[in-house]
Amino acid sequence: DALLDLLRRAPKAELHLHIEGTLEPEMMFALAARHGIPLPWPDVDTLRRAYDFQDLQSFLDLYYAGASVLLQARDFEDLAWAYFQRARADGCVRCEIFFDPQTHTDRGVPLASVMQGLNAAIARARRELGLSVGLIPCFLRHLSEEAALDTLEALKPWRDDLLGVGLDSSERDHPPEQFAMAFAAAGALGLHRVAHAGEEGPPAYIWDALRSLHAERVDHGVRCLEDPALVAHLREAGTPLTVCPLSNVKLRVVPRLEDHALPQLLAEGLCATVNADDPAYFGGYLMDNIEACTRALPQLGLREWHRLLDNSLAASFAPDIDRIAWR
Ligand code: HPA
Ligand code: ZN
Repeated sequence: DALLDLLRRAPKAELHLHIEGTLEPEMMFALAARHGIPLPWPDVDTLRRAYDFQDLQSFLDLYYAGASVLLQARDFEDLAWAYFQRARADGCVRCEIFFDPQTHTDRGVPLASVMQGLNAAIARARRELGLSVGLIPCFLRHLSEEAALDTLEALKPWRDDLLGVGLDSSERDHPPEQFAMAFAAAGALGLHRVAHAGEEGPPAYIWDALRSLHAERVDHGVRCLEDPALVAHLREAGTPLTVCPLSNVKLRVVPRLEDHALPQLLAEGLCATVNADDPAYFGGYLMDNIEACTRALPQLGLREWHRLLDNSLAASFAPDIDRIAWR
């Protein structure tokens, strides 16, 4: 397919990817064996069949259980290095990846192990793949703001290794405003600010992410279309939306990919980007998302795809030195 070949080769950025969500079933079993940890599934195929989610929460339950095999720096390095090779093969020149510090520290895994492993993989990706990577820790919104502030404090020794902060986990009943102080403190450290909003939550949570958290990008954001005033605001402010089509289908945010609002978001003049979210759980990496969308949404032509990929580079927080190399 000529369009797909073109899109694979085109430089692009991945802006919404949870590194814990790249834990493929095979690696989950390999790491469980490495550490002698029992898993609640007998084999890889049974685990894969459990990836049949009703909503965000049913996914998160399995996703946090899977992360229990990540214990040592080497595990985080192996996980991230495997991902970076896939990203490079998909034509990514820049990856801004999320991780959830609290998912690990609350299990007794030292933050130093997480950071050491991720940093090693990031250095190798730069060296061997020419891939530019930024790291964004997310606060878990089902936990307290006090816990988020403690997490930010614990991250301070690695301030210079971080690009920004994010907000993820269960959206329903956890409005962004609950984390206003933590985001203000992150902003005071000179960190970028992004937040998941408008995935399962209402448009009011997107407003809240912008107003209470000063989010520079909205992760997902697809439900903005329910509020015309919000759409106008996002268009005028040029706020990027990191849209994750296969994720939205797997978590039943939309019934079928054919019904996805990606074309409408572009038609509204919004800065939409395509991203993978949790590729090991949702059926694919960035090019798998792009390929599935080219089939399910044929109204997206070359012009729209060019716009989407261009948006991803423009919406990234990459330093100018990287941007020069992409031209
Ligand atoms: N939404 C919220 N939290 C998450 C997600 C998501 O799509 N993926 C991993 N944590
Ligand atoms: Zn996400």
